[in-house]
Amino acid sequence: MTIKLKKQVIDILKVLKKKSSDVTATDLAKQMKVDYIVLMSAVNDLIDHNLGGFKEEEVFKVSLNEEGEIYLKNGLPERQLINLLLKKGIREIDLEVLLKHSNFDKNLFYIGIANLRRNGWIAQSKASGESKIFLIEEEFPQTNLEKFLIKFGENEEIIYIELSKDEKILLDVLNKRKLIDKKRKTKRVIYLTDEGKNIAISEIKELKLVSKITSEMLISEDWENFELKPFDVSKSGPRLKAGKIHPIINLINEIREIFLSMGFTEIRGPIIESAFYNFDALFQPQDHPAREMQDTFYLKNPNIAHLPERDRVLAVKETHESGGESGSIGWAYEWDEKIAKKTVLRTHTTATTMRRLAQFYRDNEKVPVKVFCVDRVFRNEKVDKSHLAEFTQVEGIVIDDNVNLCDLIGLLSEFYRKMGFKKIFTRPGFFPYTEPSMEVSVYYDKLGEWLEMGGSGIFRPEVTYPWGIKEPTRVLAWGQGLERIAMLYYNRTDIRDFYINPLKWLRQQSYFK
Ligand code: PHE
Repeated sequence: MTIKLKKQVIDILKVLKKKSSDVTATDLAKQMKVDYIVLMSAVNDLIDHNLGGFKEEEVFKVSLNEEGEIYLKNGLPERQLINLLLKKGIREIDLEVLLKHSNFDKNLFYIGIANLRRNGWIAQSKASGESKIFLIEEEFPQTNLEKFLIKFGENEEIIYIELSKDEKILLDVLNKRKLIDKKRKTKRVIYLTDEGKNIAISEIKELKLVSKITSEMLISEDWENFELKPFDVSKSGPRLKAGKIHPIINLINEIREIFLSMGFTEIRGPIIESAFYNFDALFQPQDHPAREMQDTFYLKNPNIAHLPERDRVLAVKETHESGGESGSIGWAYEWDEKIAKKTVLRTHTTATTMRRLAQFYRDNEKVPVKVFCVDRVFRNEKVDKSHLAEFTQVEGIVIDDNVNLCDLIGLLSEFYRKMGFKKIFTRPGFFPYTEPSMEVSVYYDKLGEWLEMGGSGIFRPEVTYPWGIKEPTRVLAWGQGLERIAMLYYNRTDIRDFYINPLKWLRQQSYFK
């Protein structure tokens, strides 16, 4: 029976027949300029016809690590030191002085000195109390270690077993000096069977494979000369490393969808905010500790913010000083407009919520109004595993008549249920702008723990009255950090991962949500 093979397989067979020894798959793919996967599939065809095969061998490859690369470029520390001495014409020097001149860190410096001694280039003496070194040679030729190091300049990766015995010893020296990265790889070696070696190419017929039969083939009756390519639908395709949407953006979009499905509209506001909207409109007294420098980034430029309509500014002033129309007695101090005009990087999206209340007043809007905001906020925090100085808040409000705490708990339960948390738990909390205030925790199945998510409450009359929002109209409000949810969602234990972008993890993320 004549053997039928694809053209590409015949080409590969021809090349293999000319080789006197086995060849690695990567080398052959490079030489023939074919894709590795294509080559291996051709080898599989050879295996099917008992013409060839491949075996797998483990190879150790070594390369320079980052520090090693630097020495390849600039010379080993001992070479840098000797060059420095030669350049200055110094043959004798105090160790401390040389350390200062060398600009090396102490560790590196002493490694250099130890190797100079090992090379037999210097002697050291402590005779006069200070440690001194002397050059005891005239010439400082390239050492074997240096010659070996250069090999890495020609070949980024070196295969361990291809090294001579002496080279292996030198590699060991570099390895002990922690300049080497080691990698274990499997290499595939392709060979021909005796049959493969003996078969004449002329005995082989070219197999024409097609993935479908066209109408032209049927009309011309040419279809008989083709064979249909079988598909293996169980094989996974090559892995794509294409761009994709960042997990944080995916999560934000999911949150958006949840709010939209609950009848909310999205709002956005400025990142550079006035202290007025960030604090004063929220009835936070001007000497409130949260305004202090350790929490808030105040800005030099621009350093004065525009305030809204004069009468609203005065309404806020009056509320702070004496309660205004709200029925409160206020904070009983003199409100300073200059402080309200300071510019800050918004510390919470509640500033944007306040801008929405101002718009509600200005446009004389009707209830209900349901809006949410997912946006960036800034706090002067020390960054660690669970804190960021720049993060994202998820915030929502409902302005409606006669809404109460039960409605708020219901909304939050519904939101978190849609996020995948089945149980929520609320307890009293404190915010200067809500009364009552609640802390919200959710039950996290995977850990079997309650986790605190954020704050919520009903805006105090001192916050809503200046914007004409009066009983029985109330504002339910809540807010929380997005990255905390993201940690649960994506199973990350370090919050910084979302912004330092560990590539391995990002590559594992799906392309579509
Ligand atoms: N602004 C609060 C925070 O940054 C959250 C909050 C929003 C609390 C609305 C109550 C009402 O933590």
